[in-house]
Amino acid sequence: MDNVQDTISYEGVQIPVEQLREIPTPSYVVIEELLERNAKILSGVMERTGCKILLAQKAFSMFATYPLLAQYLSGTAASGLFEAKLGREEFGKEVHIYSPAYREEEMDEILQTSDHIVFNSFEQWITYKKKVQAVDRKVSCGLRINPEYSEVEVDLYNPCFPNSRFGVTLQRLEEELQKDPKALEGLEGFHFHVMCEQGAGVLERVLNRVESLFGVYLKQMKWVNFGGGHHITKPDYDLPLLEKLIVHVRDTYDVQVYMEPGEAIGVDTGILVTKVLDVMKNGMEIALLDTSAACHMPDVLEMPYRPAVIGAKVAGELPYTYRLSSATCLSGDVIGDYSFDKPLQKGELLFFEDMSHYTMVKNNTFNGINLPTIILYTKEQKMKVIRSFGYTDFKNRLS
Ligand SMILES: Cc1ncc(COP(=O)(O)O)c(C=O)c1O
Repeated sequence: MDNVQDTISYEGVQIPVEQLREIPTPSYVVIEELLERNAKILSGVMERTGCKILLAQKAFSMFATYPLLAQYLSGTAASGLFEAKLGREEFGKEVHIYSPAYREEEMDEILQTSDHIVFNSFEQWITYKKKVQAVDRKVSCGLRINPEYSEVEVDLYNPCFPNSRFGVTLQRLEEELQKDPKALEGLEGFHFHVMCEQGAGVLERVLNRVESLFGVYLKQMKWVNFGGGHHITKPDYDLPLLEKLIVHVRDTYDVQVYMEPGEAIGVDTGILVTKVLDVMKNGMEIALLDTSAACHMPDVLEMPYRPAVIGAKVAGELPYTYRLSSATCLSGDVIGDYSFDKPLQKGELLFFEDMSHYTMVKNNTFNGINLPTIILYTKEQKMKVIRSFGYTDFKNRLS
């Protein structure tokens, strides 16, 4: 960041540096206007196709923004009881849950909280079928299917790698139907999730596969959930193709189509503001920040990827190159090498881009490093501190 600049520009939003200097660091600053921009794109798809889009809370659970998102989306998708409760309490509307395996002692509460329950296998469905059918409210049950087709190259993010635990393959479905021709009775929907940050072209090929394997069974269902991994709100996403595919599935099988993206809701909506704590040398310039990849943006190490920094370029492109790193003990806690047009100064602020999703839901206090403050930059251009953390939060999750 240039010290003499008086605003930073992120996704077309100008934020006065003066305001950024007043907030604590590190902070996730989620920009309300950008979140609403994404939500409006998704609600446009819903309006034009009749599909229902849910927020996958595993990606983004900043519930202070749920009242805004609930104006546009149909509800939330949960990975377990806690997310289902959060969705029910803070978002309202529809609550859908999917877990590879449910806990027996949580099922009663899940049944009171969730409108759709997706089971991962016939084993799970058979375990809970009686309980579900005895419940005093309408709960629609579905089965996760595994089409054994995906275009995700990294196994860590590929639900269809060989021997994957996710969903029922066609072979398993047919074995079960041979044993019991009524095996699908009581199930109202299919769910699949096989994509990761991908476009409508990939969805088209996935759907071809799903239809050719499971089409005949899909005709018996009331709904189908296309899962997440759709980069719908990215500028180059092919919305007309997505809409054509949704309408095709809706009309061919007479089903309600659901989607449950997470990233598409949070993508390009927020920054992580951090301060340079120190600058040192060991063969190159190293800047130590008050944020950490391991603690505050774990996907940087898991995926891995190198997040963009406002005003910085790749190493060597601008005159001053630095390795951006953290104050933890993990040697590999390095965010990446970046170049700047001026030397970095102690106390200077840096802004990591695209930090709303899969950050605050995954962060941790390794080394006793504090969690970033959560801030909403409101449509009225105010920095609204939603939650700050301290020693008590650190201590409370230990014993
Ligand atoms: C079942 C399911 N639904 C939805 C999502 C959300 O995916 P994304 O954030 O990539 O859209 C995931 C992500 O892993 C998932 O496993």
